[in-house]
Amino acid sequence: MTTDAPWPLLLDDPYPIYKVLRSSMPISWDEKRRIWLVARYADVLQGLYNRRLGSAVIGPAPQDTVLSLLPLQLDMSDPPDHSRRRIIIQRAIAERGKDDVLAAVKQTVSYLLARQFEAGRMDVIRELATPLTSSSLLRLFGFQSSESEEALSFSKCVNAIDACFDPSLMQSKQRPTIFEAARNSLDELEGIIEGRVNTEKPRLIQHLCDTEVGGTRLTHREVIANVILLFAAGDANTRNLIGSGVLALACHPKETRRLKRVPEVIGTAVEEMLRYDSPIQLASRTALTDFQLLGQTVRKGDTVVLLLGSANRDELEFPHASDFDITRTPNHHLAFGAGAHLCLGAWLARAQARTAIRMLVAGVKRLQLAVSEVEWHQLPGFRGPKEVPIFFDLEPVSDGVTRGEHTC
Ligand code: HEM
Repeated sequence: MTTDAPWPLLLDDPYPIYKVLRSSMPISWDEKRRIWLVARYADVLQGLYNRRLGSAVIGPAPQDTVLSLLPLQLDMSDPPDHSRRRIIIQRAIAERGKDDVLAAVKQTVSYLLARQFEAGRMDVIRELATPLTSSSLLRLFGFQSSESEEALSFSKCVNAIDACFDPSLMQSKQRPTIFEAARNSLDELEGIIEGRVNTEKPRLIQHLCDTEVGGTRLTHREVIANVILLFAAGDANTRNLIGSGVLALACHPKETRRLKRVPEVIGTAVEEMLRYDSPIQLASRTALTDFQLLGQTVRKGDTVVLLLGSANRDELEFPHASDFDITRTPNHHLAFGAGAHLCLGAWLARAQARTAIRMLVAGVKRLQLAVSEVEWHQLPGFRGPKEVPIFFDLEPVSDGVTRGEHTC
């Protein structure tokens, strides 16, 4: 099928369109945006492993000093660069160690919930997910406190550079100011990495600079590019997972009661949240050669969008796919991708979501949404609610949360 497909992204509810695509247009050509859309689970999975589909952008590298970081990021590269970068980054994270990061997640959730339990209501995004994800990432980099001057200045630099990677900025009048701020931030980060400023290198950055695999290391620009990727990939997606997950529970009180009764199912519950409203709805690839895909001729350079959000609702893979079932087994969702680019931060995202949601549910008798409708972010490919305001009645004793006691 090559006629214009309905466009599911940017909708508050893309699922009815995904269903149409899966049933009658498993591959479709969007003429306006000049991209292929692939909608079924089996085809998306194959696409993620297809070596004729690459992640690097074809064509001349951007000249701008900030934009030229993009092709150095792991998710925007193909072998052999991708394999080399991925092994080094994975090893640097392993050498940095995960235990204290995971312990800090628990402490932070405990602290944040204690504060909000006093208040009797919270916006899950603003008061739980946002401070949790940013402090966990800062801890991963090696900052002991997310409030320290160094940590605040580091995240400001990273966010200033990441802001330039937003494609909608092209039309913005603020583009020159945003790029100017990013260039200054890049200079600051280069200063830290090259040891030009008198600041200790954050622990993970030290490992990213020092780790050597097969006689090579990351260049300083590769380090910066991937620091920005780790921060950007880790922050918004985990925030969206926690927000959508609590929203799903608030909309399915029976499942919330099940989770309260049997907290051990938190593992399968979070996998179901990842499947049900996947924070990343698509993986975009570029055809490296002309080839036949599902009966269609894809040309070298064409963009092929693998709809992860649609695959995760495919009835052929997930019986009763539109039901939210916190004990669903098996659940081979594609929310973290698959193949060469499988998410490197799944361990951290899972730990944060499991801890936050288990402790929230354990601490309250009932979860109730404080608004009748939720607004969704309008970012193509990403899915998450802007706010999740909830009311709750507290349990007399909460699981591991000491009310009013600040633990970090
Ligand atoms: C719920 C949260 C998260 C979701 C849903 C998610 C999802 C994904 C997906 C779908 C991909 C593959 C994209 C593709 O194939 O094009 C990916 C890649 C990646 N993710 Fe995550 N992610 C999450 C959290 C994190 C965290 C916390 C980190 C780091 C701390 C992280 C780091 C990365 C990196 C570095 C890649 C690129 C891997 C590569 O290209 O080899 N992610 N993620």
